[in-house]
Amino acid sequence: SRTLSLAVIPGDGIGPEVVTEGLKVLSSVLPQDVKLETKDYDFGAKRYHATGQTLTDDDLEQLTAHDAILLGAIGDPSVPSGVLERGFLLKLRFAFDHHVNLRPSKLYPGVGTPLAGSPEIDFVVVREGTEGPYTGNGGTIRTGTPHEVATEVSLNTAYGIERVVRDAYERAQARPRKKLTLVHKNNVLVHAGRLWTRIFEAVGAEYPDVTTDYLHVDAATIFLTTQPERFDVIVTDNLFGDIITDLAAAVSGGIGVAASGNINPGRTFPSMFEPVHGSAPDIAGQSKADPTATVLSVALLLRHLGYEAEAARIEAAVQADLAERAGRPARSTVEIGDALAARVSA
Ligand code: IPM
Ligand code: MN
Repeated sequence: SRTLSLAVIPGDGIGPEVVTEGLKVLSSVLPQDVKLETKDYDFGAKRYHATGQTLTDDDLEQLTAHDAILLGAIGDPSVPSGVLERGFLLKLRFAFDHHVNLRPSKLYPGVGTPLAGSPEIDFVVVREGTEGPYTGNGGTIRTGTPHEVATEVSLNTAYGIERVVRDAYERAQARPRKKLTLVHKNNVLVHAGRLWTRIFEAVGAEYPDVTTDYLHVDAATIFLTTQPERFDVIVTDNLFGDIITDLAAAVSGGIGVAASGNINPGRTFPSMFEPVHGSAPDIAGQSKADPTATVLSVALLLRHLGYEAEAARIEAAVQADLAERAGRPARSTVEIGDALAARVSA
């Protein structure tokens, strides 16, 4: 029999509630012969207040023993903005070389969108996860004076760009439409922009059957709202990817259904799967959060580990559940989780 060893990080706010439902659906969908082993990690505001610590080397060491990580949400108003995000979330993404930040957007039938008509939305953003302006390069000089200067350096390596671009081509090639769009701002950010564009074109020569396209990030926000059907796979840097995936979530059912994977494709380190949404402290503990984004993140986790049939079953269950929501009274976090667990085991 096989085992699936999972590190679970419930985190802050609604994190624990949505993770409980994600695990419920996971145990319902796994084949009989797969033994699920989970271990909880107490990362988040509580640990920070109790110990002053964020992620330690010992934590990282322990986490490496697992096949994958499931994370609810990290972030709390009692801690200055950014401390937990950088100390846990970004540290994990960097330490485990999660260079592919995968964020699919699919508008399921019956799900509301602020866009006019009923657009076809089914694309995936491959956001670079370990470089760009997220590396913390930069600093300030003449701090506290009227002449203070702050720089925020975007790091772009040929190695880092090529591996994420190649991953995106592979994903595009595996999809029916085989289309890949590079999103950048190469008219202004010329140094990084030229490097991205050159590598995008060079790698593209190896994928003659993939149609390619380029959009400046500002123009991409227009097309994401006026013609989302033009997108199939998008590849972009860390910060542009952060911004456009919030927009993508907003037009395709909202953050209640937006899933993501922080992936280390070579599996040298465990990959981490999490809903795109945050800890939503305003509704924490009330069973109001939609666990669907976490459940869809579990599907990405399963697909990454080779459980394709189980991933597809979760997605089909979500699709069926969403189709029945219109006009019905809102359900609790637990009720939605129960319904999805029942569907995947049926
Ligand atoms: C996300 C979040 C994070 C990011 C924050 C919390 C550091 O917005 O996962 O998109 O910017 O990557
Ligand atoms: Mn974000």
